[in-house]
Amino acid sequence: MNTFNHILKHKLTQFLLILVFTFLFFQFGIPLLSQALTGKAAPISAHLLWTIYMPLILMVLLLYVSSNETAWEEFKAPLRMLILERERRLIVVLRMILLVALPLLAGWVAYRQVQPQIKPPAELRSIHPAPPGSITVDGEIVNLRNTNNPFRDAQGNPDAQALAAGKEIYAEYCVYCHGDALDGNGLFASALRPSPADFTDPGTIASLEEAFLFWRIAQGGPGMPPEGKGWNSAMPAWEGKLKRDEIWQVILYLYDATGQHPLTVGE
Ligand code: HEC
Repeated sequence: MNTFNHILKHKLTQFLLILVFTFLFFQFGIPLLSQALTGKAAPISAHLLWTIYMPLILMVLLLYVSSNETAWEEFKAPLRMLILERERRLIVVLRMILLVALPLLAGWVAYRQVQPQIKPPAELRSIHPAPPGSITVDGEIVNLRNTNNPFRDAQGNPDAQALAAGKEIYAEYCVYCHGDALDGNGLFASALRPSPADFTDPGTIASLEEAFLFWRIAQGGPGMPPEGKGWNSAMPAWEGKLKRDEIWQVILYLYDATGQHPLTVGE
C-alpha cells in the first residue's frame, strides 16, 4: 500500500495519469456529457484534439512537473534510469522493447496519415427523384399525384391567355438561367453547376408530368430530397414569389415553346 501511494505521488505517474485521463475525457467523456445534456453527442474533432487540446494539456503538465527543481529531478529520474541503466535486466529489456516499439508506432501513425483513402461518394445525385405526394403553395395543398395542368382542356390544349401569361413569367424570371431558347444557356448558366435544365432535351420536361414540374418550380433546389442534393442546385424556389396559377402558366409555356408534350397522368 505504501509503495502504491509512493508511486501514485510520483510526478511521472501523475503526469502519465492526467495525460491519459484528459485524453479519455475529451474522446469519450465530452460526447457522453453532451449526449446526456442535449440529447445529441457532439464529439471533439480529432484535428482539434491533437493540434490544440492535447498539446495544451501536455504543456501545462510539463510546467507542473518542472515548477521546481525537486519535482523536475523526480520526474526525470525514472526516464534517465530507463535510458542509462546497465545492471537490472528488466529495465534493459524494457528499454529494448521501447526502442523498437516507438519507431514502429511513429511509422504506423505516419503510414495511416498518408495512406490514400478511397471512399464512395456520399450519395449519387438523382436528377429526377420521386416528388412528395403533395405540397402546400399559397396556403393551399396541391396534390402532386393525380393532377394535370388546370389550364389545359380535355384534349390537352393550352388556354391561349394562360400561355401568353406563362411566356411573360418566363421572360421575367426564368430566362436568365434557362435561356432565350429554353436550352439552359441563359446569362448566368456558365456560372452554375449543375447547369440550368435544358428544356429542349427530351430527357427533361418531355419525360415528366406537369405536376413534377410544378413541384420543382415551387420548391426548387432547396426542396430536393436528399438523393437529389448531391449537387448544389441553383434552381430557386418560386413559391411565395409566383402564385399557383402562375406556376401552371409558365409550365404551359415551357412545353409550348419547346414543342414538347408532358407525360399525362396514367402514362
Ligand atoms: C438562378 C438560376 C435559375 C433560375 C432563375 C431558374 N432556374 Fe430552373 N433550374 C436551374 C438549375 C441550375 C436547374 C438544374 C438543377 C435542378 O434540377 O435543380 C434548374 C432546373 C429546373 C427544372 C427541373 C427540370 C428537370 O428536368 O427536372 C425546372 C422545371 C425549372 N428549372 C424551371 C424553372 C422556371 C419555370 C423558372 C422561372 C420561374 C426557373 N426554372 C428559374 C436554375 C434556375
